[in-house]
Amino acid sequence: MPKIYVTNRLNLKYFKKEYIPIVVDVLRCSTTIITAVENGARGIIPVATIKEAKALGEIYVDAVLAGERNGIPPEGFKLGNSPYEFKPEIINGKLIILTTTNGTKAIKSASRLGPTLIGGIINVKAVSKAAYKIAVEEGRDIIVVMAGKVGIFYLEDFIGAGLIVKELENYNAILDDVATAALNLVKNSNWRSLAEKSEHASYLASIGFKKDVIYALTPNISNTVPILTNSIITKLEDKLKTA
Ligand code: MLT
Repeated sequence: MPKIYVTNRLNLKYFKKEYIPIVVDVLRCSTTIITAVENGARGIIPVATIKEAKALGEIYVDAVLAGERNGIPPEGFKLGNSPYEFKPEIINGKLIILTTTNGTKAIKSASRLGPTLIGGIINVKAVSKAAYKIAVEEGRDIIVVMAGKVGIFYLEDFIGAGLIVKELENYNAILDDVATAALNLVKNSNWRSLAEKSEHASYLASIGFKKDVIYALTPNISNTVPILTNSIITKLEDKLKTA
C-alpha cells in the first residue's frame, strides 16, 4: 500500500529514494502547464531562471518563451503565466520554454525523485488516479510537492495537496502527518473561499488576474495529466502510447 507524503520544495532534500512526485503550484504554474498540454503544446521545458530560458530559446528557435516574475512576463517573453494565454491557436504543436518564480523550480527539484506529474485543482481526480496507478505498479510511494512561496508555503498549494490526498484516500493509502493535516483542512473548511483569500490569490487579483484564480480553483475541469520525463513535460496519455 503506497504511503503519501506532502512536503515543500525546500524539504525535498530529506527524501532520498525514488517516489512518484506530484508538483502542486495551484496559482498558477501547475494550472498553466495542465492547460497548455491540454491545448496541444508539443512539450514544455521548465527552467529555473530567465537566463536559462533565453539561452534555450536561442537553441530551440521556434520555441515560445513563457513565464513570469512577480506575476508579469519577463521582458522579451511572448507569453506570461496566465492559463488564458495558452490558447490552442497560439500554442498547439509548439514547444514552450517556461520559467516561473516558484513552480518551475519545484518541478526541477522534484524530478530528482522520479518522473514527475503536474497536479492542480483543475485536474485533481485525474492526477491522483494516475499517480496511484503508477505507485502500485512500481511499488513506490507518492510525494506531493508544494511549490509554495520561495519553496516554503502557500495556502492554496496546501489546499491543492489536501484535495489530492482526499482523492488518494479513496484508494488504499497510508498518510504522513502533513498529508493528514492537509486532508483535514479541505474536509473541514470552505477551502475554496480560503484559497480565494490567500496571499497570492489576493496579489494576482490586485494585478488583474482574478479570472485565473477562479479558473485555477475549479475542480476537475481537466482530465489531462502532464508528466516530466527527460527534462520535458508532455501528456501522460501520449507518453504511454509511445512507451
Ligand atoms: C510561481 O511559480 O510562483 C507562480 O506560478 C506565480 C504566478 O502566479 O504566476
